[in-house]
Amino acid sequence: MKRKRMVQSMSKKDVLILGIESSCDETAASVVKNGREVLSNVISSQIKLHTLYGGVVPEIASRKHIEKINQVVRQALADAEVTLDDLDAVGVTYGPGLVGALLVGVAEAKAIAYAKKLPLVGVHHIEGHVSANYIEHKELEPPFLCEIISGGHTHLVIVKDYGEFEILGRTRDDAAGEAFDKVARAIGLGYPGGPKIDKLSNEGNPEAISFPRAHIEAAPYDFSFSGLKSAVLNYLNKCKMTGEEICEADVAASFQKAVVDVLVDNAMRAAKDYHIEKLAIAGGVASNQHLRTAMEQACTKAGISFYRPSPIFCTDNAAMIGVAAYYEYQKGTRSGLDLNAVPNLKLGER
Ligand code: KG4
Ligand code: ZN
Repeated sequence: MKRKRMVQSMSKKDVLILGIESSCDETAASVVKNGREVLSNVISSQIKLHTLYGGVVPEIASRKHIEKINQVVRQALADAEVTLDDLDAVGVTYGPGLVGALLVGVAEAKAIAYAKKLPLVGVHHIEGHVSANYIEHKELEPPFLCEIISGGHTHLVIVKDYGEFEILGRTRDDAAGEAFDKVARAIGLGYPGGPKIDKLSNEGNPEAISFPRAHIEAAPYDFSFSGLKSAVLNYLNKCKMTGEEICEADVAASFQKAVVDVLVDNAMRAAKDYHIEKLAIAGGVASNQHLRTAMEQACTKAGISFYRPSPIFCTDNAAMIGVAAYYEYQKGTRSGLDLNAVPNLKLGER
């Protein structure tokens, strides 16, 4: 009964895309209607498994993706109350990411596309993260500025059009999320570090310890977090050697404040220099509560409209891949059945 109603409510022109994501430690599938409406969003997280080892173990990730992928796709179709026959295309992350993990999603998408004679659209993972902003902000359209902050990437870009980016800045060393994970490990919080530091910071004083904020004169929109990470490690070592008591909450809050300050400063500088009045954030670190508040305040002060996905669409998911695939599909982008995983795929490359 329910399914009939659903199908009837869909007009002929509706475009339904199945998005698939498996670039790291989440096996995910989603059905997206007309690029903006998420009909289902299934995420099978491997976090608990990798926590045992203090980080993502690529071999285990690939094996788990293989175990889960069919189940996750089936669930995404069932939740959306559609079948493979209702789909218009299949979108899949083909890079960047862990090669063995990516290959599982790519193989699944190719099998479905081949069996059902559907167009296949390979999606750049970062383009997916940016596109997560279109889900809940129906009015958001390019051009806008976007800061993408994840476990593997830190980029400041102008989204000139759907899927078209001008890169203004990037990290010179560690990604912001990587810094969160490494500092969390050093203060004994375990993996994944971002959410744990976010939570513990509520109990700490962000002004307690003075950690450095890197600004690169010649490249004002670039980031560098390895000096900050070393400063935290040096501080912890110094305390241990001198017998000084370590307040983990103060370390977490002070470290987080240093990261947030740089992320906000660079974004605000770029918005001002390029006269852009719309700023979006994306990627796992964009779910950080302190960053969201600080960025929102800075945007309000500067008269800039601020956009951010709900936390569930910030961390890895397949809805964002379905959205990005929709805009690529509309532009005519098609991948062949020879689509391969590209672990170090650059933004803007196909
Ligand atoms: O986007 P994502 O899920 O995967 C990648 O594409 O890398 O990002 C994962 C990263 C991890 O480093 C994780 O620690 C960080 O995002 N993260 C956070 C928070 N939630 C996840 N960092 C800071 N605060 C959070 N609340
Ligand atoms: Zn990601």
